[in-house]
Amino acid sequence: MKEIRSTDLLPDELPMDPLHWADAWIKEAGASQVQRNPSAMTLVTARSDGQPSARVVLCRGFVPDPGYLVFYTNYRSRKAVEIENNNRVAAQFHWDALGRQIRVEGRAVRSPDSESDNYFASRDWGSQLGAWGSDQSAPIESRQALITQIRARAQALGLELGESTDALRSDKKPLIARPPHWGGYRLWISTIELWVEGPDRIHDRALWTRDLLRTNENFSVSPWTGERLQP
Ligand SMILES: Cc1cc2nc3c(=O)[nH]c(=O)nc-3n(C[C@H](O)[C@H](O)[C@H](O)COP(=O)(O)O)c2cc1C
Repeated sequence: MKEIRSTDLLPDELPMDPLHWADAWIKEAGASQVQRNPSAMTLVTARSDGQPSARVVLCRGFVPDPGYLVFYTNYRSRKAVEIENNNRVAAQFHWDALGRQIRVEGRAVRSPDSESDNYFASRDWGSQLGAWGSDQSAPIESRQALITQIRARAQALGLELGESTDALRSDKKPLIARPPHWGGYRLWISTIELWVEGPDRIHDRALWTRDLLRTNENFSVSPWTGERLQP
């Protein structure tokens, strides 16, 4: 694996647009191929009684203006149930080989259906089938029962599978609609920390915050205020 440790600390005068910096870091992580899933982030949600839970999801979009990131999941999963009850979430990216970390906090709201439709349509059919086949986070008695369930649901969608669930018998690319229980969330960012590994553990970090004001399905945002933090 390539080692590309960045020597760039944050500028003395902190940038006013931390999301553009974050966007550049995410793009650099993608281009540098230092890890298999450079867009992977740990997403933290919390039950309404305060119990947090964490898991990795892929960041499938980062929109610095006005400022949210996008991930996709099953709307009946544990994380989604927690978000529906308490939309305050946190997420964190770490690129070890680049010596960089990004932490964000904010509010998650469902993406517009049209956006989820477009993303779902761009996925390969195996991933599309997976969204129908698995009741994410629900218990199942065995792996075999899961395979049987996926095969049955594939059949219901008019798909003929070969020996394995990812072997399609027909040459035609099937048209699979997005399940209503699967789609995107926009994580609207109200807090962001950029962290750069420094020599002798004198790391460089800064935290920016802003207000999010709910406007119908979206948020309007106030300007950022940023400050450097001790490592
Ligand atoms: C590298 C990686 C990427 C993943 N990407 C996603 C993703 O984009 N969406 C998703 O729902 N789960 C993804 N998962 C699975 C989740 O970590 C998790 O197991 C699943 O979403 C169920 O979480 P929950 O029961 O807390 O809702 C990914 C796991 C890994 C290790």
